Amino acid sequence: MDAKGDIELSHVTGSALHATADLLAFVALGDPSKDATFKAVDAALAGVLADVARSESFEGKYGQSITVHTHGRLPARRVMFVGGGPRSDYANPNIRDTAASVAQAASKFGAASVAFVLPTLGANREPGLIQMASEGVHLGTYRFSRYLTGEDHKRPASLKRFGIVTDFKGKKPTAAQTRAFLEASARGKTIAHAVNHARDLVNEPAAVVTPIALAHDAQAIAKKHKNVLSVTILDAKKCAELGMGMFLAVGQGSDQEPRFIHMTYKPAKKAKKTVCFIGKGITFDSGGYSLKPSQAMEDMKVDMSGAAAVISAMDAIATIGSDFEIHAVAACCENMVSGRAYRLGDVLKSMDGTTVEINNTDAEGRLTLGDAITYVREKIKPDEMFDFATLTGACLVALGPYTAGVMSDHEALVRSWMSAAERSGEDMWRLPLNVRLRDQLKSQVADMRNTGDRFGGAITAGLFLKVFAKDTPWVHVDIAGPASLSSTRPSQPKGGTGFAVSSIVEYATRQ
Ligand code: BES
Ligand code: MN
Ligand code: ZN
Repeated sequence: MDAKGDIELSHVTGSALHATADLLAFVALGDPSKDATFKAVDAALAGVLADVARSESFEGKYGQSITVHTHGRLPARRVMFVGGGPRSDYANPNIRDTAASVAQAASKFGAASVAFVLPTLGANREPGLIQMASEGVHLGTYRFSRYLTGEDHKRPASLKRFGIVTDFKGKKPTAAQTRAFLEASARGKTIAHAVNHARDLVNEPAAVVTPIALAHDAQAIAKKHKNVLSVTILDAKKCAELGMGMFLAVGQGSDQEPRFIHMTYKPAKKAKKTVCFIGKGITFDSGGYSLKPSQAMEDMKVDMSGAAAVISAMDAIATIGSDFEIHAVAACCENMVSGRAYRLGDVLKSMDGTTVEINNTDAEGRLTLGDAITYVREKIKPDEMFDFATLTGACLVALGPYTAGVMSDHEALVRSWMSAAERSGEDMWRLPLNVRLRDQLKSQVADMRNTGDRFGGAITAGLFLKVFAKDTPWVHVDIAGPASLSSTRPSQPKGGTGFAVSSIVEYATRQ
């Protein structure tokens, strides 16, 4: 769960050097000995800062930091410098990790208040930096500690106030600047909370986050935003009436009932366009009769990360507001083995009529998504649709754990998506939807089969989905790698990452 007793962000004006806080933090963009602020702080501290920097080899590189006690030489108790790397390389999203590491240092020292001096990268970048710093504070203090019973996990966090210092010269901010600050920091908080909520959904065991639990979560979010959000939940019977033969087959081996979730955001004014975000919602992927080995199955509670992302993003979209009509759709079920489970060799009939021979029950995500895509295309008829899915291990092999694979044959749409992802600082990379690989999906007994060969596995999965997307502008995002990580960064502990939430919100609210 994210830190209770939320951290309050405020705009601190006046001289940075004289800010009163338990921890006063600066960003060093490269060599600190060339940094005027560093020199001014060092002078105030009688040369101690430069000494520590030298002895700890602090060079202002990204990821480095030093902290010194002020011993009363400055109003702040401690001063921290966080390395940001070369100025020219420092993009707005970088400050998420910077601010997160400051918040974490504050917790380590038991500090209640922080004054964080925003690096000066031009007035036009300030709102973006403030938003991302705000995200960093809330993302960096996220812990999933519900099931940890030790005393130290129950202690409330020490950090209460995180001030962002934007004015060096002691000038008072204008009303417009104050408004801009409030808007940017609130936006950051809203996005981070949605990301943290998605993390919670991913980190919770599959025994807790069932398809029904996900449906309840979507309903709770819709209830929070009654004026703009509504939700429809379809049960197995309704899905059968709609002909979702692929989706229902995947879930039929489980004792958990499937749920098809459809959330709708309607703007107050006439919508400029209709956008659909579809998420893969396999609450646990055992592989079915093509059973996964234990190690590969161990983390398969994460297989609903796409659903978690689209559902959570709707919360932030409703708070921030969008000019578009936005839908979030997730076909949620569990892929299990039992006497009722679907088999290899079964032929399924999808919602659009296409028949599919099953040659691997572990390629289940594309089946559930295929019907979700048809539902979206036929019932919502959007201008654009996107799907987010922990779809293939092959995507991890191709791009590593940190980068999502993006596939689309709609150049304009994929460009504008990649631009939103870049602004959000989420790593995404295009893979080609090479149609020659389509041959791998040929079947003797049905229109196609669900699995191709080993090589190009991320792409054949994308090509499978394309059959259902037809001519509706569509982008497929394979998040099998970044949805959950075993490594950390300041803004991200191990486990569920909430990947894609911030890009979805960015795309939906800024175009
Ligand atoms: N959920 C998995 C993909 C996955 C792998 C997600 C690792 C997160 C981390 C998916 O349903 C799956 O099992 N894919 C198969 C496809 C294969 C049978 C064609 C895979 O990648 O092995
Ligand atoms: Mn699978
Ligand atoms: Zn899966």
